[in-house]
Amino acid sequence: THQWRGIIEEYRDRLPVSDSTPVVTLREGGTPLVPAQVLSERTGCEVHLKVEGANPTGSFKDRGMTMAITRAKEEGAQAVICASTGNTSASAAAYAVRAGMVCAVLVPQGKIAIGKMGQALVHGAKILQVDGNFDDCLTLARALSDNYPVALVNSVNPVRIEGQKTAAFEIVDMLGDAPDIHVLPVGNAGNITAYWKGYQEYAADRIASRTPRMWGFQASGSAPIVRGEVVKDPSTIATAIRIGNPASWKFALAAQEESGGFIDEVTDREILRAYRLLAAQEGVFVEPASAASVAGLLKAAEQGKVDPGQKIVCTVTGNGLKDPDWAVAGAPQPVTVPVDAVTAAERLGLA
Ligand code: F0G
Repeated sequence: THQWRGIIEEYRDRLPVSDSTPVVTLREGGTPLVPAQVLSERTGCEVHLKVEGANPTGSFKDRGMTMAITRAKEEGAQAVICASTGNTSASAAAYAVRAGMVCAVLVPQGKIAIGKMGQALVHGAKILQVDGNFDDCLTLARALSDNYPVALVNSVNPVRIEGQKTAAFEIVDMLGDAPDIHVLPVGNAGNITAYWKGYQEYAADRIASRTPRMWGFQASGSAPIVRGEVVKDPSTIATAIRIGNPASWKFALAAQEESGGFIDEVTDREILRAYRLLAAQEGVFVEPASAASVAGLLKAAEQGKVDPGQKIVCTVTGNGLKDPDWAVAGAPQPVTVPVDAVTAAERLGLA
């Protein structure tokens, strides 16, 4: 009876729903805010991880999707469509099942992690692999939703942002106030837009005394906002944020400017180093794109941009199981032993 009810019930008065809205939920949100000991030591700050991989389909997208599918249902939609680098499609597919809707997904051919493809498949989505990148998929999804009876559930749909802003509410509710700095990976830039909206709403209503500086990080090979121009052929091992023309570009710039923050880039090498640190030293397994926030924090600290003593939250956006190839790659193959305790003890270094 005390189970977390999902973001719509928990934050109903702050979301665009009415008493008669048919709520479609998997009880998303209520994710852990985990103190990060090693990152705190390295930066001299109080660093927390908002572990969004703990959502029902393993990413923050569920916060937006419960809203998007709920509103699509309310409006009588029978089918939804999204472009995705993987997580949005996994989430849309699951929530569409709950709503009894058809889900169509468009993904860049060969560029989505295996776990995410598995989710879309097992939830019964209609999947097309597009011979192009995410930006091409989004263009196609928009065209289809404009011309056919299918509702678009990408973050260009403003109710997605409404749902995702609840992560900022949870952080303030748990910490008692907004942090000094909030760090996020940036791809299509919907999430940084959503957090900024959430923090601003809580500050306007005096639930928080302030708003944090928003720090966003793109992957170097896919950093249009940092470059100030569209990246035609984006590349990065962090496939979730392999995006060359973010839909919420101008909102991300507004979040940066209004909060006194910045948007910078991190290399794939920096992303993978942070990915391994999170798993091996904090006990938190995330997918590579998620580690861009932590990689960015470490880069900023090395550049002397992080004054000690601050409260910092890094959102880690997706579960490591989504893209396990990077966990296995480069790791030594475990040795095989007979059923023999002496040998096993030797090999484990116990004897
Ligand atoms: N981290 C992960 C794990 C993601 O899946 C995404 C976006 C982001 C970060 C970036 O968030 O786009 O709001 O700036 N994934 C989208 C998708 C594009 O299709 O799943 P953003």
